[in-house]
Amino acid sequence: MSLAERDSKVIWHPFTPQKGSPLPVGIVRAEGSYLYDEDGKRYIDGISSWWVNLHGHSHPYIADKVSEQLRTLEHIIFAGFTHEPAVQLAERLLELLPGEQTRVFYSDNGSTAVEVALKMALQYWYNKGEKRTKIIVLEDSYHGDTFGSMSLSARSAFTQAFNDWLFEVEVVPVPVEGREVEAVEAIQAIVNTGEVAAFIFEPMVQGVAGMQVMERRALSEMMRVCKDAGVVCIGDEVFTGFGRTGKVFASEFLSTKPDIYCLSKGLTGGTMALGVTTCNQTIYDVFVSEDRLKTFFHGHSFTANPLACAAALASMDLLMRQ
Ligand SMILES: Cc1ncc(COP(=O)(O)O)c(C=O)c1O
Repeated sequence: MSLAERDSKVIWHPFTPQKGSPLPVGIVRAEGSYLYDEDGKRYIDGISSWWVNLHGHSHPYIADKVSEQLRTLEHIIFAGFTHEPAVQLAERLLELLPGEQTRVFYSDNGSTAVEVALKMALQYWYNKGEKRTKIIVLEDSYHGDTFGSMSLSARSAFTQAFNDWLFEVEVVPVPVEGREVEAVEAIQAIVNTGEVAAFIFEPMVQGVAGMQVMERRALSEMMRVCKDAGVVCIGDEVFTGFGRTGKVFASEFLSTKPDIYCLSKGLTGGTMALGVTTCNQTIYDVFVSEDRLKTFFHGHSFTANPLACAAALASMDLLMRQ
């Protein structure tokens, strides 16, 4: 039996109708831009394995760094303990991210990076003792598949079975060419209610929406409207981060910078699962308290996995050489 046939007896693949779909392609190895199937057929990985791969498959530099780390420290609990790759990666990310980011919170994929950002922004207001409940999103947005990130995303066939359980959000136009004024006016009207906690968006390009490119001045202006009212701006750079738009981060194109960033996908060069949420000092400060209820109670067993952090450091070395 082929790999694909064995697969079809035991595996349930993501986003895949369970009837009528072709057998998956059984990949046995990958190198550079190419994938090789079990019959030796070669494919170009045109989708960069879901937009995660940056430097080509099985990159020897990343492989060496990860295997070195594997022999040193493979994993530890990240509450009450720390390790060199996590600290070094945080130091490097904070140096590179646009705006004044001061803290890194680790998780393990893009959706969890968004969940963390959302919870951080909501608890920011809770800890301050102010009731702000509205979240603003762009039309056509996609932020992930967990309940929080689905709620922030456009309703579609993908969310239909869950729509009754998703929380409501305020949807504004995407500031594409020709809709700049409409988008800025729409966000201003919602922000004026004084009830908005956060605005989440993909800086410059909406990936899943079909590579929808925004007008940088209009998006910066929308963020400015939010910032003037204290609304937390969350830049979801899960897709756009790490060179996808020509800059290391797409937010470099904007004149106003996010308060919180979400990172994943290209973070490890496509080698391992890792999520990062960063914030600035204003957000972080309201969590610094002797009141235990102001603690950010969130985490995952594999938070800040040292192997994934080592892969990310190696990937960033390669990115910086370009
Ligand atoms: C902008 C954006 N945010 C979040 C996610 C979710 O990331 P993940 O698939 O790692 O959960 C994606 C995935 O495509 C994305 O494009």
